[in-house]
Amino acid sequence: MTNFIYQAPTKVIFGQGVTAQTGQLLKEQGAKKVLVHFGGKSARNSGVLDKICASLEEAGIPYITLGGVVPNPRLSLVYEGIELCRKEQVDFLLAVGGGSVIDSAKAIGYGMANPFDVWELYDKKREAVGCLPIGCVLTIAAAGSEMSDSSVITKEEGSIKRGYNSPFCRCRFAVMDPELTYTLPPYQTASGIVDIMMHTMERYFVTETTLELTDAMAESLLRTVIKNAHILWEDPTNYQARAEIMWAGSLSHNGLMNCGGPKGDWACHQLEHELSGMFDVAHGAGLASIWGTWARYVLEEKPERFARFACQVFCFSPGSSPAETGEKGITAMESFFRSIRMPTSLTELGLHVTEEQVTELAHKCAFGGRSIGSFKSLCEKDMAEIYRRAR
Ligand code: NZQ
Ligand code: ZN
Repeated sequence: MTNFIYQAPTKVIFGQGVTAQTGQLLKEQGAKKVLVHFGGKSARNSGVLDKICASLEEAGIPYITLGGVVPNPRLSLVYEGIELCRKEQVDFLLAVGGGSVIDSAKAIGYGMANPFDVWELYDKKREAVGCLPIGCVLTIAAAGSEMSDSSVITKEEGSIKRGYNSPFCRCRFAVMDPELTYTLPPYQTASGIVDIMMHTMERYFVTETTLELTDAMAESLLRTVIKNAHILWEDPTNYQARAEIMWAGSLSHNGLMNCGGPKGDWACHQLEHELSGMFDVAHGAGLASIWGTWARYVLEEKPERFARFACQVFCFSPGSSPAETGEKGITAMESFFRSIRMPTSLTELGLHVTEEQVTELAHKCAFGGRSIGSFKSLCEKDMAEIYRRAR
């Protein structure tokens, strides 16, 4: 096993009706002036924004608001947020939404605490020295940003989507009421489910020795999400199922699924970020569209790992060879994706990617001549081949 540090400092307030505690939580944090950051229309339409504003008023916390975050959040709004926060002397950021809103808040927080253009972090030119404190009220189970050390921003110019990780941006608290996710369209619920599973699978598919306990937790998380995804498909307001999936989303991406193993593979995430950067697709759906192609491309590196996955997650018995059993696991995962109407190819994702676009996607993904992945290290040529085969 690998030595590890596990640090998950976010205070989680989980359950029915917990949103009303938001004002009090901000008070505990010593917030003097808060920016309430949110997305398009869901937070307003569901009434959650009004509830949060009422809770802040009750706690006597002054605040301003900035909405308009779109999925695959844009750098221009981040700049706008930084300027607004400087002008209004904001000292705490409250994100109300999903990964896009939380990530936009994290980028604003970096912009406030670092004396240079915030994009230089995402462009890998600088390291952060701090971030304004952030709390969140989560409205979609998906990205895991509520507990992760990551944020992902899209620069409009050139449609470049890049992530930046540092412990400074971890949320101080995350308010998580599964009922807030009842209003999600089925496509967003499903896309979130794929992302949750992928955060565990990216860490699970490694060639190095891992901890048995971490493997077992990962397999249990995947089985639990699959089971509850089927329940939600029939019954979208099933509280227990919403709760299982929401908590899985946080545990999948807060570092727990890394303990004792290496950092993970992450090739599918890197490949997907180029897809959502260029074509503005939902992140989870983009992941579903390429995972099977990636899995078959790398299977031979360590078929035993895929065979274990097939047996532990989908209850297959070992077949004549690890590769054969592993292939059954890949097919079963693709069938699961289809069962929740998620794509398993770029065409099913709604993209008709030309050969020129394949080249462009791979070139962008290999920025600075880097390779990606660890299960199998992938150079630009491999990336292009995966995009090509995923069509
Ligand atoms: O804008 P509104 O109207 O709020 O609509 C949103 C959005 O259209 C809607 N929505 C959210 N909660 C809702 C709701 N609709 C109805 N009822 C609700 N309760 O859902 C849509 C998607 O929201 P978004 O925040 O984009 O979803 P998600 O949480 O999947 O975040 C995706 C972003 O996170 C990044 C992705 O790349 C993508 O940019 N990621 C962030 C990570 C991190 N910070 O750790 C890790 C991930 O791997 C991922 O890369
Ligand atoms: Zn993800």
